[in-house]
Amino acid sequence: MSDANPARFITLEGGEGAGKSTQARRLSEALHARGIENIVTREPGGSPGAEDIRKLLVEGEPGRWTPEIETLLMFAARVDHVARTIRPALESGAWVICDRFTDSTYAYQGAARGADADFIRRIEEATIGDFRTDLTLILDVPVEEAFGRIESRAHAENRFEKFDCAFHERLRQYFRQLAQRESERCVLIDSRGETERVSQQIWRAVASRFNL
Ligand code: TMP
Repeated sequence: MSDANPARFITLEGGEGAGKSTQARRLSEALHARGIENIVTREPGGSPGAEDIRKLLVEGEPGRWTPEIETLLMFAARVDHVARTIRPALESGAWVICDRFTDSTYAYQGAARGADADFIRRIEEATIGDFRTDLTLILDVPVEEAFGRIESRAHAENRFEKFDCAFHERLRQYFRQLAQRESERCVLIDSRGETERVSQQIWRAVASRFNL
């Protein structure tokens, strides 16, 4: 990869059932089709150790952990993921597409579950320092439509899906406000309806941000 077009770190964010995993795969294919090497990864997880920590986080009852403990576990997983998967890929010239990253911690553990944002910021600084994304795509879908998608899934492993509607509304509002507040880094994607239409919006955002 030349210096004019360095490897980029792109994340997809949003609430449950917003279609992130499907869109991450489609974006990966679109980049490959243009000869851009890339990997798709996810959080929590994305490295063997982080996948082990993921099990602690997504299984069990909603009240299993306090939001502060969740924050610590998320960053324990993240620091391993960054060191063992994300940084090595970027250094080898591959773009990284990641299904969720630190914005999810501010949204889920902070805005939705009530952990103090300064507490999260201090843990972030102590673990990943100033490592940030180049572009964050925020997939936005009304909570009722997202719930319909969650219910049609073959298996529900995820304890966060068991929180109530108000929790999911807080998440949605947090992500929408983030897109406005950090408009340099974030693009809000209308993720209702047709998968193909959503992919096209995402491709336009990526192509225009990185001059593809
Ligand atoms: P997902 O793979 O379906 O997105 O599931 C991961 C779950 O973990 C999802 O419900 C969101 C949650 N999560 C957090 O609460 N905080 C975080 O920092 C991350 C990365 C995910």
